[in-house]
Amino acid sequence: MELTKEEQKMFDGEYGEGTQISMEILVALGKIYNAENMIPVTSVQVAGVSYKTIGDAGLEYIQEMKSKGARTRVPTFLNPAGMDREQWKEMGVPEHFAKKQIEIFEAYEGMGISPTYTCTPYLIGIRPKLGEHIAWSESSAIAFANSVLGARTNREGGPSALAAGICGVTPNYGLHLDSERKAKYEFEIAEDIKFEDRSDFGLFGLKAGVLVKNNYPAFKNMKKSGSQINEDDLKYLGAAMAAAGSVPLFFAKDVTPEYNLSDDVEKITITKKDLDEVREQIGPDKVAELIATGCPHASLKEIEEIVNLLKEGKKLKSKLWIYCARPIRKQAEEKGYLKIIEDAGGRIVADTCMVVSPIEESIKGTISVNSGKAAKYVPTMCKRDVCFGRLADLIKKSKEGEQ
Ligand code: F3S
Repeated sequence: MELTKEEQKMFDGEYGEGTQISMEILVALGKIYNAENMIPVTSVQVAGVSYKTIGDAGLEYIQEMKSKGARTRVPTFLNPAGMDREQWKEMGVPEHFAKKQIEIFEAYEGMGISPTYTCTPYLIGIRPKLGEHIAWSESSAIAFANSVLGARTNREGGPSALAAGICGVTPNYGLHLDSERKAKYEFEIAEDIKFEDRSDFGLFGLKAGVLVKNNYPAFKNMKKSGSQINEDDLKYLGAAMAAAGSVPLFFAKDVTPEYNLSDDVEKITITKKDLDEVREQIGPDKVAELIATGCPHASLKEIEEIVNLLKEGKKLKSKLWIYCARPIRKQAEEKGYLKIIEDAGGRIVADTCMVVSPIEESIKGTISVNSGKAAKYVPTMCKRDVCFGRLADLIKKSKEGEQ
């Protein structure tokens, strides 16, 4: 690989051991993928923040990087952690878990990383532009950044993203190259499929992700009934495809900023019958002990919709936890939404999510979700069965005490 003078200095250890290890990681990756050079990145998002997912080995690694003097040199942000920094006790997070999680906070923040703790940095002002090179590592954020914003990122792992934040560059291969950003599959969506709610996009994403695996799909005729497809819809779609098949980039005609097909593109048709099969496999459309929403983290608009559903009438019969970035929670509080949600028996949770927190410590029953990604991961990561439905229906049923 050809390194600039500055990159070579990092590689040779002139900026300390932490930076040297980071550049070694990036060079090794670049060699594996035949990158010719490094490319500067404007932002980095580091996943692997929850003690539940990285454990002691991960904690030791980041503490070691910090002790070796590693410091970020470009804006670097963190993915959700294992607990809400303010509400963890009330939410039943065990003390020993919290202690380890706080050590992770300290190690990352000690390297200069911003404590955003969200998988939707693009909802709190971190919105790379079309063509901008970044190194993000949470799968739904990668899909959103590449597809909806048109930024360029590979699927970074936690350590390679951290290395990119420390060195300010990433190997120039894969989705950083325009020539690679072409769909291998073009989908024709059958007329009988209706997209009405964001959970419909999540359900569709589960099927599409399984079909294309880690390739890039293009949707020729994706339409929403009665309104335009919005960013929350695309967020749910991308998250589900990333979870079901590791999809880092998708195109939707007249919706996403890019729509490129490879020369040997294959055509696929998805029908309602395909989606009904997926729907049946996930779990029933029922209200369980907890309704958990905000996977990926909720926007203020989603919270506003929930508030409208809660304003009138009875209290919820189930728990309702809405996960979002802390600045979104703050905005919800300023608008009076937090009070309405809490008065109805719900909770807005920041810094974490239903998958990477030890939710199984406090929720012993089934969890109702409206996200394809959550439906995929809650059973394996939290050992809880899921029910799946549209959020408006789940909330209505919870208010009526229906199961
Ligand atoms: Fe985000 Fe957690 Fe879902 S990281 S995409 S809310 S699993």
